[in-house]
Amino acid sequence: MSATQLERLEELEKQLEQLKERLVQCERLAVLGELVSTTTHEFNNILMTIINYAKLGMRAADEPTRAKALDRILAASQRAARITATILGAARNRSESFEPTDLPGLVRDTLLLLEREMQKYRIQVECDLQPVPAVLAIGNQIQQVLINLLVNARQAMPDGGRLLVRVAPAHEPDMVQLVVRDTGTGIPAELLPKIFEPFFTTKRGPDRSGKGGTGLGLSYCRDVIEAHRGRIRVESTVGKGTAFTILLPVAPPAAFSQAAQAATAIGSSNAVVS
Ligand SMILES: Nc1ncnc2c1ncn2[C@@H]1O[C@H](COP(=O)(O)OP(=O)(O)OP(=O)(O)O)[C@@H](O)[C@H]1O
Ligand SMILES: [Mg+2]
Repeated sequence: MSATQLERLEELEKQLEQLKERLVQCERLAVLGELVSTTTHEFNNILMTIINYAKLGMRAADEPTRAKALDRILAASQRAARITATILGAARNRSESFEPTDLPGLVRDTLLLLEREMQKYRIQVECDLQPVPAVLAIGNQIQQVLINLLVNARQAMPDGGRLLVRVAPAHEPDMVQLVVRDTGTGIPAELLPKIFEPFFTTKRGPDRSGKGGTGLGLSYCRDVIEAHRGRIRVESTVGKGTAFTILLPVAPPAAFSQAAQAATAIGSSNAVVS
């Protein structure tokens, strides 16, 4: 290879790296967009519930109906408060750095955001969140990975189905496993090696809720899990369903003291500001 060819190759490699970075940023924005649209829908649903029960309560002359209406209004408002707390918590607590992370908590928060969407598509969600040690992770990125897997699972079950999300100790030491299993269409064996490739998709553009179809979801998941020194694998049977299993490393003791130091530093700088 000549010197000019070598130079050109290096230049192309650099461009490829830059494009990959932009792809990750785009994916991040896409997931953020999904979160915003899901949350807006959620809030709209909750508001409708509140308005309808308020109207019912005002019309009703009898005490039991009024009490029931107030009960429903309270429950709906509390759900809205839980959702805002989750989103604010996500923005505040989950930094963009590796930290000891409570995986079952992260799964619970994420499922709360997608709860109504799953109901709408008649998907029964089962959760098996076992006690596990904290994992070393960038919480926001793992949440994005989980959302990608949950949306894929939902899209694979157009007529409803069952979704299982499990967090459990892995079969190997110092690892925690996260499983997302659906009873959807499954993936033909000849396509399985391709699904993690960027832009590989079998979807014809976004679905009715505006999600899916670029073929970037799983390639993003794989990149994130590899950067976490974890692993992601898939098992699938056509007509039966698909299971994605992710392994993430347990946070070593040193990570806890580093996180505590960072928190103290933030705390003291806050004290100066206020
Ligand atoms: N749970 C699943 N069940 C069946 N097929 C799946 C599942 N998850 C992924 N696939 C297949 O793998 C392909 C790639 O998935 P990926 O998430 O990367 O892209 P996508 O969902 O098509 O688009 P997007 O970039 O919007 O996520 C999908 O188009 C689908 O064919
Ligand atoms: Mg997808």
